[in-house]
Amino acid sequence: MFALDLIIKKRDGGKLNREEIKYFVDGYTKGEIPDYQASAFLMAVFFNGMDTDETLWLTEAMLHSGDMIDLSCIPGIKVDKHSTGGVGDKTTLVIAPIVASCGVPVAKMSGRGLGHTGGTIDKLESIPGFRTGLSPEEFISNVKDIGIAVTGQTGNLAPADKKLYALRDVTGTVENLSLIAASIMSKKLASGSDAIVLDVKTGSGAFMKTVEKAEKLARLMVDIGRGAGKRTVALITDMDRPLGNNIGNALEVSEAVDILNGKGPDDLREVSIELATNMLFVAGKGDNEFCRTLAVEAIEKRTALNKLMEMVERQGGDPKAIENTSRLPSAQFKAEWRAEKSGYIEKMHAEKLGIASMILGAGRKDKDDVIDPSAGIELVKKPSDKVEAGETIAILHTSDENRISGAVSVLKTAISVSSNPVQRQPLILGKVQ
Ligand code: URA
Repeated sequence: MFALDLIIKKRDGGKLNREEIKYFVDGYTKGEIPDYQASAFLMAVFFNGMDTDETLWLTEAMLHSGDMIDLSCIPGIKVDKHSTGGVGDKTTLVIAPIVASCGVPVAKMSGRGLGHTGGTIDKLESIPGFRTGLSPEEFISNVKDIGIAVTGQTGNLAPADKKLYALRDVTGTVENLSLIAASIMSKKLASGSDAIVLDVKTGSGAFMKTVEKAEKLARLMVDIGRGAGKRTVALITDMDRPLGNNIGNALEVSEAVDILNGKGPDDLREVSIELATNMLFVAGKGDNEFCRTLAVEAIEKRTALNKLMEMVERQGGDPKAIENTSRLPSAQFKAEWRAEKSGYIEKMHAEKLGIASMILGAGRKDKDDVIDPSAGIELVKKPSDKVEAGETIAILHTSDENRISGAVSVLKTAISVSSNPVQRQPLILGKVQ
């Protein structure tokens, strides 16, 4: 078999078989197929697509390119959740403790943020002392002992994805449904949980800009999960505006804690409860209505909050920073951004707000940039809220005053005020199972 033949076959619209896809993925991972051929291959896939079989085989080849975590020594149905990424998306910090406090083990591997999207690992690292680099042994023993662990990637999971994703990033081939689905699902399947809930975001702050595309991606990923013998459900949720009021690492931890204290913004609470309900459902805890009651009670009775504190302590963090979030890193500079005219908040472009937050220091433009854990944006108003001229719309947080003007110029293009009342958009846009 030759890489060139496979590139030509895909270029001409042919269907690759399982062996051919495995040959390509293995060859590229081992360095036997060079970047220039892999780039041409990715572009051929980008233009001609892959069907469901090819996507399954691609996922399978990527999944078997490295280690796989074996969680079978942990009793119970282990459940995982994955979000396709967004702005202000701190749901993992809310739902992992909810689900674990209901007796369902959560062994979660999360990533760091890049560009306008945040990452759970960066958020957790804003908790003083919190360790996100658990070894596979510690990861498993923590889940066994307290039912929850959240870590950065442990072990050499799906190395093919790491290499291919980096190449896609610089060859304009990220936005292809099969490539995205195989990338996400190879990592999820390698991390060993029995059941998976996917949160596929759609809107201005998401990869999938339309509900139709989000549904297609969700269908593909659910089919891959099912094909691998895992109970898999996907929710399509809105990312046309940021989720919750806070964007930025410590600010988001604080808001997640608010939800677990029975407070916090309604949108974050609604999406978190829906995701937690579905995680409990795929873990076999009962029907949807019962699972929702369990999730709500875990908040009301503070069992989820206690579980978060237990996890923080176990991973070396200071649980007092959860008990009292004023102990989290706080920015030296805060600037209020005010409305120029009265009306109703019409649009809050999620991607642009993510970029403004990144400029303040909360995110990375390049993967080696250092994060300011205290930086970010606190939204005082959200879409459809009434605002008077001169009222504060957002508070900018940063440790570097020089960053404020750059963030403000992005904010100006991200938020618009209309003189007419604005309808609130639904948050949960669909479910694929
Ligand atoms: N997230 C991933 O892990 N992979 C993709 O291809 C896109 C988003």
